[in-house]
Amino acid sequence: MVDVPAVMVGTAFLADVRPHHRRRVLKQAIGQLPDELKARVMALGRLEGEYEVDSILGVNSNSVVIEVGGDEGELHVGLFTEAARINHSCRPNAYYRFSPRRLTMEVVAYHAIEAGEEIVMSYVPLDTARSERRQFLKETWGFDCTCSLCHGSELDITNSETWRRRMTDLRGSVLHARREGYFQDAINISKDWLHFSELEMVPPLLAEYHDTLAELYRLKGDLINATRYGRMALDGWVRLGSVEDDQLEKARVFLKDLS
Ligand SMILES: *[C@@H]1O[C@H](CO)[C@@H](O)[C@H](O)[C@H]1NC(C)=O
Ligand SMILES: *[C@@H]1O[C@H](CO)[C@@H](O)[C@H](O)[C@H]1NC(C)=O
Ligand SMILES: *[C@@H]1O[C@H](CO)[C@@H](O)[C@H](O)[C@H]1NC(C)=O
Repeated sequence: MVDVPAVMVGTAFLADVRPHHRRRVLKQAIGQLPDELKARVMALGRLEGEYEVDSILGVNSNSVVIEVGGDEGELHVGLFTEAARINHSCRPNAYYRFSPRRLTMEVVAYHAIEAGEEIVMSYVPLDTARSERRQFLKETWGFDCTCSLCHGSELDITNSETWRRRMTDLRGSVLHARREGYFQDAINISKDWLHFSELEMVPPLLAEYHDTLAELYRLKGDLINATRYGRMALDGWVRLGSVEDDQLEKARVFLKDLS
């Protein structure tokens, strides 16, 4: 699913102006939207006890980085009315990625989603410990999580904690091995990492994973496997038909440089 922003605001603006001025400008911005879109914005969930625009943006927007005028990225807050409807789960079946070039939010499924199954995303990084995760959800969005994982068995919850910790450690080990030039180790550890992320049902975008392996094989000097994984990455990006066409281009250049 690809969503376009109803409102996009630089965080520098949000921080610099006085609160009443900020609210007036945001209210005006929302007021100028086409009726149908405005209705969608006004129908979004909000927290009690805050100014209307603050509370709508507060619980529904995403922080995104946009390059302005070729400079380094600047942090913005984007309000995507369709993506904002997607509920949280600690065991998500989808995640989102932002395209700074098209200003779109792309919601990507982790795996096949059944008809009638709710689309859910994690509002919190997946490697956050359970207690911190629940506290953060409560403080930021004001709810006690009742997702399938939080309602799962003790065993399910313990396994998930272990696997996620393991994934974080393994990712660190891959980076370390790569930095130290132990490329075969980095490759082996990457494969273990994939195994745990599949157990935990939050697999990476395969094209991204294949890109990483292709690069590690290239560094190791195994050009046959570098090409093999480079092709898999390219296929993945083509199949995704993604907004991230710079990734597709990078995969093409990678293969061309190898040959
Ligand atoms: C999100 O959860 C709420 C409350 O459980 C539910 O009413 C709503 O339909 C859900 N949203 C979507 C998009 O499924
Ligand atoms: C990587 O894994 C392969 C096969 O699984 C094994 O033969 C090899 O010894 C491992 N290499 C390192 C550096 O751990
Ligand atoms: C590299 O590629 C060959 C096939 O060309 C394959 O047999 C081998 O397992 C690959 N090496 C690793 C470490 O994946």
